[in-house]
Amino acid sequence: MKILVTGVTGQIGSRVAGLLAGEHFIVAAVRKTGNHLPYAEIKMELGDPASIHTAVRSAKPDAVIHAAAITSPETCNMDEKGCMKINLEGTRHLTEACGVNSARMIYLSTDLVFDGKGSLYTELDTPNPLSIYAESKLKGEEVVSEILVDHVIARTSIVFGRGAFSENGFTHWLTSNLSKGKRLELYTDQYRSHFYIGDCARAIAELLRKDSRGLYHLSSGKRESRYEFALKVAKRLSLDDTLLAPSKMEKHGDMAKRPKDCSLDNGKLLKETDFRPLPENEALTLLAKEYPEFGKNRD
Ligand SMILES: NC(=O)c1ccc[n+]([C@@H]2O[C@H](COP(=O)([O-])OP(=O)(O)OC[C@H]3O[C@@H](n4cnc5c(N)ncnc54)[C@H](OP(=O)(O)O)[C@@H]3O)[C@@H](O)[C@H]2O)c1
Repeated sequence: MKILVTGVTGQIGSRVAGLLAGEHFIVAAVRKTGNHLPYAEIKMELGDPASIHTAVRSAKPDAVIHAAAITSPETCNMDEKGCMKINLEGTRHLTEACGVNSARMIYLSTDLVFDGKGSLYTELDTPNPLSIYAESKLKGEEVVSEILVDHVIARTSIVFGRGAFSENGFTHWLTSNLSKGKRLELYTDQYRSHFYIGDCARAIAELLRKDSRGLYHLSSGKRESRYEFALKVAKRLSLDDTLLAPSKMEKHGDMAKRPKDCSLDNGKLLKETDFRPLPENEALTLLAKEYPEFGKNRD
């Protein structure tokens, strides 16, 4: 298949493209071409509808994996209009272009669409976003499901692991600060289903392979506090875990609002596909291999 991937320079998009490149022809939709990526590159700026329609028309993909977005809840809070333009309107135009060009779409969404009053949410639970970012992603889900029959909405838990071309996200934040000896406050009262990035890429590839349609939760199926999980990562990478201080969400009122618990149940994904997440211990071993600059005594 020819697969157009948005967000290839980001964390998840880069790992999905890398995984699929063995079997499929990947076209990377990028804001500026000339990144020397190991894929064909085509220009696409999500804020520019013409560039979206032109890119899809000329690439003629069988499938689009839409992993590009403004992903920082704080950035979205500061610029709601800009966030909606990229995350919602960009998604709307990309979905329309998929419809016109008979491409299926896998749209990446987020665990943050929930308000945190529940736990281990299933696909049947009702979202109630607390932040502008989460609202933009949920509205993106709505336009994808309204416009395009052949779609998957893949709501992903927070990932850990390294992007292929850029440093970003939770593990980067944790490792870069701890390795500089900086003390970090981690929530004991915020629960997520921390998901290994390689597993996330495999789950997306599996949904593509199965010709799945509809809404899926992509997660480890576990529920752990940010503090609990950060301790495990720090230990496995032989970073100084005494720098991790337990903290409560209410202390950080200046940040974009996040749910106390947006752990995701992965039962539907496991039931309908052959995907199985790695046991956490194995995922942490692979994580350690992605960060050879840290750690000692690893096998
Ligand atoms: N990471 C997580 O833990 C997580 C959890 C749940 C859901 N998700 C979802 O998964 C998807 C991927 O997240 P990620 O963390 O991998 O993203 P990321 O690392 O923040 O990368 C974002 C990507 O989007 C691209 N992008 C941003 N604005 C764009 C624009 N105006 N036009 C075209 N491309 C643009 C960026 O390109 P540049 O390099 O040019 O900036 C980059 O490739 C997102 O939809 C996110 O909502 C992520």
